[in-house]
Amino acid sequence: MPDQLQFAPLQFPTRIPADYEPFVLADEPVWNPSVHLALAAPAESLSLSDLGYDSAELALAASPLGVTAPFQVFSPAGLEAVRTVCLALQANAMVGTDDRAPSYIPGAGYRSKFIHNLCHDATVLAHVSSLAGIKLAPHSMTDCQAYINYAPRDVSKAVDSWHIDSIAFDMVLMLSDPTKLVGGRLEFLKVSRQSASDLFGTTVDQLHLGYAVEVPQDQIASAQFSAAGTGVVQQGTHVVHRASRLETAGERITLVLGYIPLDQSGPDPTNVDYMSAWGHPGISAELARHAAWLSSQHLAALASQIDPDASAASAATALRAAVASVERVISALESSG
Ligand SMILES: [Fe+2]
Repeated sequence: MPDQLQFAPLQFPTRIPADYEPFVLADEPVWNPSVHLALAAPAESLSLSDLGYDSAELALAASPLGVTAPFQVFSPAGLEAVRTVCLALQANAMVGTDDRAPSYIPGAGYRSKFIHNLCHDATVLAHVSSLAGIKLAPHSMTDCQAYINYAPRDVSKAVDSWHIDSIAFDMVLMLSDPTKLVGGRLEFLKVSRQSASDLFGTTVDQLHLGYAVEVPQDQIASAQFSAAGTGVVQQGTHVVHRASRLETAGERITLVLGYIPLDQSGPDPTNVDYMSAWGHPGISAELARHAAWLSSQHLAALASQIDPDASAASAATALRAAVASVERVISALESSG
């Protein structure tokens, strides 16, 4: 594969999954970036190097970014509008059964036109891309373009336990007043995912499952959210993070927007094996679309760029690499059924 392979973004599907149709908000604010945005730059960022990643691991990562400090995203009017939408959707939140987020809404971009337009807003995309240092698009898995996480009613449960994400980049938007929260901090481990796996007695490929374990305080950094309407951008497949337990009950809503790099010359970080077991409406078709999108563009690049003198072995290897996403998703879908 070439060093740089810039893909065109996958378009939003022409019809939403039938199971989402009853939950689409009929009456909601209309997204208006000139009124709702107040984007600012973060004061600082942690790189993957800062988190202990070595050069071999960095070479396989989509960008050097670990996680930014919080920065302003919404204007007061934008915060009010996005909170109105997220509170309206809360009645239909799903309840998790594992050590991950106990109360959440996946596929929020299917349910809310406001959130869909926020996910696809060109100004937001340019800002997030600039922070990541690479061109990003709304994630090709529509399910992952926007998640809303709500605090559990039972405060003895972690809001979310230590984990890595199943998609490469996300922006975590704090929609509740963080100064009123006791606990409920967004925290990061100051170590690589390999070191975190060693600490939890597991492997990197199991880190998405979530680990509700305590870690020495000197290995933890917290996002210092000063107000609602701010957010951080992280390379969530590499930064091990959690929302710590709320010490007293309180409103804690975060909206997580998911992104995919448009440079797909490296390995696809999307955890399709895990996603195939999620059971969310439309997820099987989304996985098929994701794989078809990736492999079709890899095949097109191969058709135009393959060395005319390629040997039989290298031509076969190139074809196998181009269809790897399709093969991987077929296998994930067949084993999930
Ligand atoms: Fe996460």
